Amino acid sequence: MKRVLRGAAVLLALSAVLAGCTGKSGTSAAPKIGVAMPTKSLQRWNQDGENMRRQLEAAGYRVDLQYGGENDIPTQVGQIENMIVGGVKVIVIAAIGGGSLTEVLKEAKAKNIPVISYDRLIMNSDAVSYYATFDNFKVGVMQGQFLVDKLGLATAAGPFNIELVTGAPDDNNVNFFFGGAMSVLQPYIDSGKLVVKSGQTTIAQCATPNWSTEDAQKRFENLIQTFNYRPGGTRLDAVLCSNDSTSIGVTNALVAAGWTRDNFPITTGQDCDTTSVKNMMAGTQIMSVFKDTRTLAEKVVGMVDSLVKGAQPEINDRQTYNNGTGIIPSYLCDPVVVTLDNYQAMLFDSGYYRAADFQ
Ligand code: GAL
Repeated sequence: MKRVLRGAAVLLALSAVLAGCTGKSGTSAAPKIGVAMPTKSLQRWNQDGENMRRQLEAAGYRVDLQYGGENDIPTQVGQIENMIVGGVKVIVIAAIGGGSLTEVLKEAKAKNIPVISYDRLIMNSDAVSYYATFDNFKVGVMQGQFLVDKLGLATAAGPFNIELVTGAPDDNNVNFFFGGAMSVLQPYIDSGKLVVKSGQTTIAQCATPNWSTEDAQKRFENLIQTFNYRPGGTRLDAVLCSNDSTSIGVTNALVAAGWTRDNFPITTGQDCDTTSVKNMMAGTQIMSVFKDTRTLAEKVVGMVDSLVKGAQPEINDRQTYNNGTGIIPSYLCDPVVVTLDNYQAMLFDSGYYRAADFQ
């Protein structure tokens, strides 16, 4: 009898220990993943955050998704701290300021929590394990080449007047967007075929803090005023804009100055924001670069899965992105030029947007 009681006591103790390992309800709590997006005030990040939450939950993870207020760095730092304390297994971060997370990510490294830099490279931190983005230099080259092709710079005599607008100076991507575009445009500026009347041709001179539409609009209103960029005034043939939020600001200024779909300068963009697609349909933005946030989210979920399961994430670039502490293994997705010629197929037929929302 005693042997039976002892056996039962052992079984009871064993089941109590097992219950402790599998969480309160006796079911194992799914691993939690932290996702830190910069802001809700720029359309694409809402899509990025939602795509990742949906795809991570479908893969069986719990998700702590946070948006950093109005691009507020201290808010994002606090959110990442809470994720670390909250026991996330992996943190995915689209940084507000590329160099602003060095200190907080030391805590992630100390707890062996892998960090995936999302779309924007986190600088000066050896806690960054991987980087998932689109080929940022290629985005810039596409924008520059589009202007070269549309203006016919290879054969036309010119000169053509152009102005340059790029994004946040603390966003590492700007070096690649602007660098890629200028790798194509600079020779034509040097030869005098492209003329930048403002003489503003550096990132510092063309930057737009936080990629703000309002700031881009204000700067361009000043350029229009200073150089009389108006129909019947000084010709303006093209405007390089590194993304849609800045392109929308430029378009607002140009439309207010009297430019119409019949004479609109050739303008570029990136992200295929809803407003920009509508401007394209109205002839007041000529192109955007499509970066399907569903694809990027899918890549990141794959990386998270590999990291949680102790496997190697899929990488296709081990040379381009040095974040100040060394090369960060990366996965680059492919961007696509979108114009009125292909927006239907790329954006509506693909299910990215509903055509009904653009009627
Ligand atoms: C960049 C991003 C772009 C652009 C911008 C605005 O880092 O790669 O897609 O839209 O931020 O958030």
